[in-house]
Amino acid sequence: MISFNTTKNIQTFKTTFIIVSRDFKIKNSLNLVKDACDFEKLGKANKFLANINQFLVAPCKDEKQIIFIGFGKEESENLDNLDSYRNALGKTLKKAKELEIKDFCVDAFEFAKFYKNKNDFLKDTVLTLELSNYEFDELKSKKQSAKIENISLLTPEEIEEKDEIIKQGQIIAQAINFSRRLSDLPPNIANPKYIAQSALKQAEKFGITHKILNKSEIEKLKMGGVLAVGSGSVNDPYFVQLEYKSNHPNAKKIALVGKGVTFDTGGVSLKPSNYMKGMKYDMSGAATVISTIVALSQLKPKHDVIAFAPLVENMPSGSSYRQDDIVTHFNGMTSLIENTDAEGRVILADALAYAEQEFNPDYIIDVATLTGACVVALGHFYTGMVSTDEKLAKKLIESGEETGDYVWRLPHKKLYAQALKSDVADVANCGNSAFSAGTITAAMYLKKFIKTQNWAHLDIAGTESGIPVDTYLGKGATGVGIKLLVNFIENLD
Ligand code: BES
Ligand code: ZN
Ligand code: ZN
Repeated sequence: MISFNTTKNIQTFKTTFIIVSRDFKIKNSLNLVKDACDFEKLGKANKFLANINQFLVAPCKDEKQIIFIGFGKEESENLDNLDSYRNALGKTLKKAKELEIKDFCVDAFEFAKFYKNKNDFLKDTVLTLELSNYEFDELKSKKQSAKIENISLLTPEEIEEKDEIIKQGQIIAQAINFSRRLSDLPPNIANPKYIAQSALKQAEKFGITHKILNKSEIEKLKMGGVLAVGSGSVNDPYFVQLEYKSNHPNAKKIALVGKGVTFDTGGVSLKPSNYMKGMKYDMSGAATVISTIVALSQLKPKHDVIAFAPLVENMPSGSSYRQDDIVTHFNGMTSLIENTDAEGRVILADALAYAEQEFNPDYIIDVATLTGACVVALGHFYTGMVSTDEKLAKKLIESGEETGDYVWRLPHKKLYAQALKSDVADVANCGNSAFSAGTITAAMYLKKFIKTQNWAHLDIAGTESGIPVDTYLGKGATGVGIKLLVNFIENLD
């Protein structure tokens, strides 16, 4: 973890990074630098136009240095400004690592105008820098880069309770980086037991109420879907339940349900190997909901939140579940297995029904790397959402815009549910291909296992990893959904 401070004066730092947009001439804080170096002359001489990805190392008097990081052009509407700002912070951190500068100041206060208030600016800046600092290199014998120690943020205006705000940013970032590590760990390490034990460790560390069910307890609960999908693996299934209680009189109850397939081979409906690559990330939904509780238990919002995460490995073997099997779920409903690769929904069916019965929530939100179709439809920058609740959908979209965990809503008319009809079971686990719309039909399957309308399904298949461009998140897992859910819960009345 980086240690953060705020400062009113950059002159005391050996190295200062200044993020500048293309109209940098009007930037107030550049006056502070004026005595130290002639930035305009330097800029011209070095063809520095403050474009995205551009930087300029400006040596100054007294062995100090100022490093300009290009922001690009500011948009007149706020559409892309936050992305550009977060990515510029990412570039700042990367440059500092490259130059092995462990202790520096960042001048970015100019961009506070993109946020609702200064607190949000400070919190998100800390959070984004911590996320930029994450690298999954623990299994490499040679570590790649220097570790950043201290960052001071220039905040010329007073920010009340700044220490508390910095801490909040760090709590969320730490939870996200914990989640990213679980996702990035290879499936031979991060199997269901490993994830369950990691959740248990966090629960013990932060005093979170927890239940970790093993296979025989899952059998007792008759979670036929979890057992079926887990049956082909030598690694037994687990079921994690973590609870945050607010003790607030008007608390709403929110259930979070996350798909935890620690590796998805497809099972006997085996995936071709090029489609199997990256299927270690198929537990990201579980990591998201577990980590959200880890963050909430420290942030202490006024609502009660409980996370449910079924954990299995989907493997082909002599003991695997098969196509044509009929599985009986926790709530007594039956699924015809038409494709063992549509396994996420089969485990979520049990978990959703269980969450509703156990907790009687006001809202249920599930998070899952559910369909390749979602990646085709929305790519890597928007999570797909299907929701039967207008208010919930609207609030999640708003939280997405604020946090950068963008959400796009898809339709949910009953017409789509006809894709799941089966002659021999209550529902088929795989939508009739004539209906297309794989993300929506998958969501319609999930919907059959809950009674409440206050439900949202988040398909993170495209957003949990594999971002094709260089952003502040770098390579590997993104930890998508945690910022989103924390923001949603903190802003819920
Ligand atoms: N885990 C996959 C979905 C996925 C695909 C996540 C690509 C991330 C990237 C899921 O279990 C799956 O295999 N879904 C099938 C469903 C189909 C068999 C109905 C799919 O999307 O092809
Ligand atoms: Zn699958
Ligand atoms: Zn899967």
